[in-house]
Amino acid sequence: MRSYEKLLLENKAWSKEMVADDADYFKRLAALQAPEFLWIGCSDSRVPANQITGTQPGEIFVHRNIANLVVNTDINMLSVLQYAVEVLKVRHVIVCGHYGCGGVKAAMTQHHYGIINHWLKNIKDVYRLYRDEVDALPDENSRVNRLTELNVKEQVFNLAKTSIIQSAWKNDQRPHLHGWVYGLQDGLLRPITDIAPGTAIDELYQYDNL
Ligand code: CO
Repeated sequence: MRSYEKLLLENKAWSKEMVADDADYFKRLAALQAPEFLWIGCSDSRVPANQITGTQPGEIFVHRNIANLVVNTDINMLSVLQYAVEVLKVRHVIVCGHYGCGGVKAAMTQHHYGIINHWLKNIKDVYRLYRDEVDALPDENSRVNRLTELNVKEQVFNLAKTSIIQSAWKNDQRPHLHGWVYGLQDGLLRPITDIAPGTAIDELYQYDNL
């Protein structure tokens, strides 16, 4: 059997199992999507949003990219964010990074990886912002880990800068923004930062006519 054929086979078995457990399972899911959470995570195959949070299909709206970035010109991320916040009305947005992130590691080098360097430049900008703090750490591992945390913190702040979030905060007192980092070594999520609805961010980024 080819590797991809196993996926299709496993899918059949899973679907059958779900229906055996609950005959209306798919009927119910197909009729309604009402997730409480938007997850912005890394594309890394070892950080599957549902599995590590014990959630089921229908519970988390998911966007993933390399190194869980919130880039304010990324029409893909912005579309997901707008839909999640304005249509699905999620109550929480979680940016989840992970220790040992290849994207963060690559951004700390001077190696040119091709087109991905355009993307990684966003992490280099975070590194430059916290250069003194990160470089003061004794070894490469702790520097990468700290930049991973700071990257999550900055991406959460990038969410707060968007008119989508500011407008929802003003009109609906949600969503709450969270920044977590996942440990590949122990499977645990660590809260790093959070911004409650209505928090006054640097006024430079505040829109006064929303
Ligand atoms: Co990663």
